[in-house]
Amino acid sequence: MKKVLTIFVLLMSAFVTCKAASASEVRTLVVYYTYSGVTETLAQHVADDCGGTLVQVIDHGNYPRPESQTTYNYANNERSQIDAGNWPEINTSIENFDDWDAVIICTPLWNGKMANPMLTFLHNHADKLNNKQVALAVTSWSSGPSGVVTDAHNMLPNSSFIGSTLHINYQHRDDIPEMASEWLSTLDFELPKTNKMRVIVGNKVFPATLADNPTADDFRELLPLTINMSELNGNEKYYFLDYDLTVDESVPDMIHAGDIMLYGSDCVVLFYDTFETTYAYTRIGAINDPTGLAQALGTGKVTVTFELAEDLIGDVDGDGSIAINDVTLLIDLLLGADTTYNAAADIDQDGEVSITDVSLLIDRLLNHP
Ligand SMILES: Cc1cc2nc3c(=O)[nH]c(=O)nc-3n(C[C@H](O)[C@H](O)[C@H](O)COP(=O)(O)O)c2cc1C
Repeated sequence: MKKVLTIFVLLMSAFVTCKAASASEVRTLVVYYTYSGVTETLAQHVADDCGGTLVQVIDHGNYPRPESQTTYNYANNERSQIDAGNWPEINTSIENFDDWDAVIICTPLWNGKMANPMLTFLHNHADKLNNKQVALAVTSWSSGPSGVVTDAHNMLPNSSFIGSTLHINYQHRDDIPEMASEWLSTLDFELPKTNKMRVIVGNKVFPATLADNPTADDFRELLPLTINMSELNGNEKYYFLDYDLTVDESVPDMIHAGDIMLYGSDCVVLFYDTFETTYAYTRIGAINDPTGLAQALGTGKVTVTFELAEDLIGDVDGDGSIAINDVTLLIDLLLGADTTYNAAADIDQDGEVSITDVSLLIDRLLNHP
């Protein structure tokens, strides 16, 4: 029976982890290169349509103009150099891609392949792009995009390519706005996984963080989970699940109050004391601040709820609840030098944090304490 349940959970998780989201629901970077403007038009439409950040890859400025056989020969020779490991200069680099969940690459096709500057950009940023979701749009005069697709896959072997490649040839140039929108609507990105969780015991809420490992991923799929946990040794509550989770156990140096561990393959353990252990566990996560946890759990059996805490609008400090601290922090954000966008502080979700958000948050606290 347990095996059947495990298979069921794995099947369910395959569906749950593939929660589809459109390009406008995820944080999207639209990066493009253009030599003569066509791909720029496409990229601007794509970015406008999905609300993405637009970044242009700037080349070294030496490609012969106007476009002619000389340009093609120059680009072709440079590509031979690239294939021999000599990369040209480009004048664009991005420090990190943490602000984006998905990257849409818009590039022209050159001599049947990806335009050299975009190829170079991908080469220079491959490590940072390799775990990203990527979609590809190609413009050419008439050639099909397969050479560009091959280049993109070779440059980013570990990225997940989403949807089919958009191809705009010279006949479609006037249709770019419609084709871009239509294509975007077919792209199913995956929503980023949250690692924020709440552990609820009676009327106490403990913000917690899931580990970044396959066991925590399995556990996430079971949430929300309410279980009646048993007492052991005056330092832990435990519960045997009906499911096996991924095991990668080791003996921790120390157990800390608030640790959420897997014992064996199916026993969830919530520790409320700090002590040395000789037992092996796989980490699921931990309560961020275990103050008051032991009192809340008590000495016997206790009902505990584990649930995901998606970013709450208004929960500016990310502690899982909306309180007066969030108003203070929101004001600090407005007065401070750090202009990084904070979605939780953007109460009216208009894309910027302003004084309006402060009054909306106060209003919300007063009317829905
Ligand atoms: C160096 C170079 C090589 C090109 N090679 C091809 C090609 O092999 N096949 C093709 O259909 N178009 C080719 N083109 C045309 C471009 O792919 C096409 O005009 C593209 O839409 C231009 O985009 P852009 O205006 O953003 O630079 C080439 C253009 C350049 C500049």
